[in-house]
Amino acid sequence: MKPAVHSPITQDVLDAMARTSNPRLREIMEDLVLSLHDFALRTKLSRPELDIALNFLNEVGRATNERHNEAVLLSDVLGLSSLLCDGDPDHAEEAEALLGPFWRLHSPRTENGGNICRSETLGPKLEVLGQVIGEERQPIAGVEVDVWQASPIGLYENQDEQQADMNLRGKFTTDDEGRFWFSSVLPAGYPVPTHGPVGGLIKAQQRHPFRPAHLHFLLWKPGYETRVSQVFVNGDQYIDSDIVFGVTPGLIGNYERQGNGRYRLERTFAIHQGEAYLPKPPID
Ligand code: BEZ
Ligand code: FE
Repeated sequence: MKPAVHSPITQDVLDAMARTSNPRLREIMEDLVLSLHDFALRTKLSRPELDIALNFLNEVGRATNERHNEAVLLSDVLGLSSLLCDGDPDHAEEAEALLGPFWRLHSPRTENGGNICRSETLGPKLEVLGQVIGEERQPIAGVEVDVWQASPIGLYENQDEQQADMNLRGKFTTDDEGRFWFSSVLPAGYPVPTHGPVGGLIKAQQRHPFRPAHLHFLLWKPGYETRVSQVFVNGDQYIDSDIVFGVTPGLIGNYERQGNGRYRLERTFAIHQGEAYLPKPPID
């Protein structure tokens, strides 16, 4: 339900925007103005508080560069990104996850069976065996599967000078049975970046900044809806308190410890016919 018009100024703004030719832009902006005005009046927002909020947004912009995206982080920490995830949260094959601020577009194409450690990366070894299926559970060949993860010390390569460019990132293509497989290391949980204004907000709210350990997947094939997923490490200490509200039951994986100390993850992803899209990469 839309908020009511409480002030003549609200109505004036709506009237001023009424000729917007793009209908979706008009719909979104009308609702945004109604919601913002309603919010400001309900909370009795003061001028100094508005200044703080506007300065916060400026700081978000200033903290963003080609290696870090504070705006995506803000959306994530406020739960907005997770709120907008489609899919079935309880179903392993269908569950959807947020993209996060660390996806890079040009991760290295890697043969199935390859290792995504591109520089020495100490930690428990991990084997991942994936399969992509369609609506009739038929295997889908030729799906591009983008994978990215944090290291066993909880850092993405773009945050860590010790890691090679594109370490722990790879792009695989499913074979005729819809399968892809690769070697890596077990990811660790990590704190989201807290050096910027979003970090200040997290601190003011007395929240911890951690995400439970996970792998990221982005599945892309023309003619199919893109699936963005994560698979969380079962038993992680932050599984019930992810800072970005991204864990659903369907996203928890079974990382099985083998006799040789290695871990193994098997996972099936379902994709549906529709329009493929590639998100705008949050960083270069
Ligand atoms: C990530 O999983 O990469 C992530 C998601 C949200 C905020 C920070 C990191
Ligand atoms: Fe992550």
